[in-house]
Amino acid sequence: MLHAAVVRSPHAHARVRALDLSRAREAPGVRAVLAPGDCDALDETAEFEGRAVVAVAAETFGQARAAAELVEVEWEELEPLLDPEEAVRRGSLVGEPRRYERGGYERGLAEADAVVEAEYRTQTLNHNPLETHQCVCEWRGDGLDVYISTQYIWGVRDDVAAAFGLPPDKVRVICEYMGGGFGAKNGAGGYVTLAAELARRSGRPVRLALTRREENVGGGNRNATIQRVTAAAKADGTLTALGGEFICSLGWGGWLASTAGPMQLLHACENVRTVEYGAKLNLPAMAAFRAPGFVEGTWALECLLDKLAAELGLDPLELRRRNYANVDTMDGRPYSAKELLECYRRAEPHWERRHEVRARSDATWKRGVGLASQIWYGGGGPPSYAWVRVGSDGRANVVTAMQDIGTGTRTAMAQIAAEELGIRLERVQVQVGDSSRGPFASISGGSSTLPSMGPAVRAAAADAARQILEIAEQRFEREDGTLSLRGGEIVSPDGTTWPLEEITGLLEDGQILGKGARGPNPAGMRVLTFGVQVAEVAVDVETGEVVVERIYAVHDVGRVINPLGARSQIEGGIIQAMGHTFSEARLDDPHRGTVLTKTLDAYKLPTIADVPEIVCELIDKPDAQLTNLGSKGLGEPPIIPTAAAIANAIRDATGADVTSLPITREEILAALREARERERVGAPSA
Ligand code: MOS
Repeated sequence: MLHAAVVRSPHAHARVRALDLSRAREAPGVRAVLAPGDCDALDETAEFEGRAVVAVAAETFGQARAAAELVEVEWEELEPLLDPEEAVRRGSLVGEPRRYERGGYERGLAEADAVVEAEYRTQTLNHNPLETHQCVCEWRGDGLDVYISTQYIWGVRDDVAAAFGLPPDKVRVICEYMGGGFGAKNGAGGYVTLAAELARRSGRPVRLALTRREENVGGGNRNATIQRVTAAAKADGTLTALGGEFICSLGWGGWLASTAGPMQLLHACENVRTVEYGAKLNLPAMAAFRAPGFVEGTWALECLLDKLAAELGLDPLELRRRNYANVDTMDGRPYSAKELLECYRRAEPHWERRHEVRARSDATWKRGVGLASQIWYGGGGPPSYAWVRVGSDGRANVVTAMQDIGTGTRTAMAQIAAEELGIRLERVQVQVGDSSRGPFASISGGSSTLPSMGPAVRAAAADAARQILEIAEQRFEREDGTLSLRGGEIVSPDGTTWPLEEITGLLEDGQILGKGARGPNPAGMRVLTFGVQVAEVAVDVETGEVVVERIYAVHDVGRVINPLGARSQIEGGIIQAMGHTFSEARLDDPHRGTVLTKTLDAYKLPTIADVPEIVCELIDKPDAQLTNLGSKGLGEPPIIPTAAAIANAIRDATGADVTSLPITREEILAALREARERERVGAPSA
């Protein structure tokens, strides 16, 4: 196997004036060198830092890197466009501005007793999967094997096949295990094309793994936002208008995630007007990141709602209840299921703790409680397929070409098959991670793995169970449809039981083969996930230090398959949100547009010392309209409301309005000064 290294633009905007590869080509161990023109993933013009220019494959990574350093590039530097508002003014946009309106926004404002406005900002964030983007490509005959860390085996297959003009099944994609993706690994990416082309030219397998520095520049990011938002309500809290302008700093590519989505979907409001811009800048392109758009948008919306509650003198939880949506806010469809009201009910005792929490404040440390709601997709959908194979030993094998991205997918699928077959979990094996050894399976993105794949596995297991029971009914001379599988046995209504192996044992080398497909989502219904989080904080009003002491989270995702796995998703989401709220930020040189936080000592992920007490609850009520399983996804929901719940707790504790993420000590101290000023002049908080 050869190892690859990539020469990348050190500039945010530049052109190659001259390129000299001669020394690199002759360097020890070098087996292939690619330059612009050899591969679409290389270019002589760099519109963002980290743009690939040259790729080298050598016997060792050290040799590849040494050769890359011998590539001589003469750059002509160009002016970078870095200011998102300037980009919007100049019309430098990714896609068209996205406008949405329902009802009459101006009328809604006119009818209101209170109107609050604010500008909220969010920072650029790196996904920081502990395993960086990487792959090994190997040509076998006229086909290509790609070993890769990915959230979507089939997406990689299609991307790579298209890049090399191959029939898709000539590309085999393998992902047994991976170290995190968070949305950054939903497709193949240029690095895979480079590895495959280097492998083609050298006739050797090639590994290309991004270094941490490459990852934190070009591995994708959650785009920064500027959100100018307005909420208007009657004195009783009824929302009369919601509006916002959302500027998303997408970088040179990517897509415009729905930052306005929470404003459009979460609360009932007849009059809503939003416009979203995707600013095209000389910065690395965004990539989906765990509830893209909704994390940023919920931060602004749910902070704004508390500001409105303060203005109206209403309880923030009560304000949300008064604007509860009983049908979809955008098109009036019924929800397939919605337990947000039940979430509010369960959150109430945790919300009630605020009196006791506040009372523990002293002159320096002020304590308070805040909450925020959450809405997101997560219903999954077709197509997805699974096979279940039962051998003569009565053990089952689930086969499907999905990926387990670290969320415990194998376990959940084994649980579903075991329950349907009436056998112990230990007797089920799950084979995933190989596009040539199983049928098509869904992307592990959009919180869709379990709701897309689980129903297919259940259907496949049911198909196998039906075949086993048909044999048993013949063998034991029972009427069709009278026997069932339970506790590893075939069970008759009259109480007779037979070990499962008594039937499967007849098979010898034969196998029972069940197959299942994911059915459609319910027609004419909106399938969404819901939740509420309540944060308790302590704020040192002298230093601006914030300690999150407790977070209560209650989520409604239909039926829960694996309670421990679900709890891990909630805890993981909240911990990642703690990083988003307090410490993480990609910092760019404001003039040059180069990334300053390329390493994990500069880009501050949360550590266990930052983690508060986390109390999780799940409603765990199957969505009766949704598939044969009634489960929705939980990967994304828990990261959505945390930042707003924390900011609302800070406001509850101190009266300070924080409006920018991350919430630094400077931000807190400035917000405290503003709050004191407001109090001094007696101006309303709006
Ligand atoms: Mo996701 S951010 O849909 O992987």
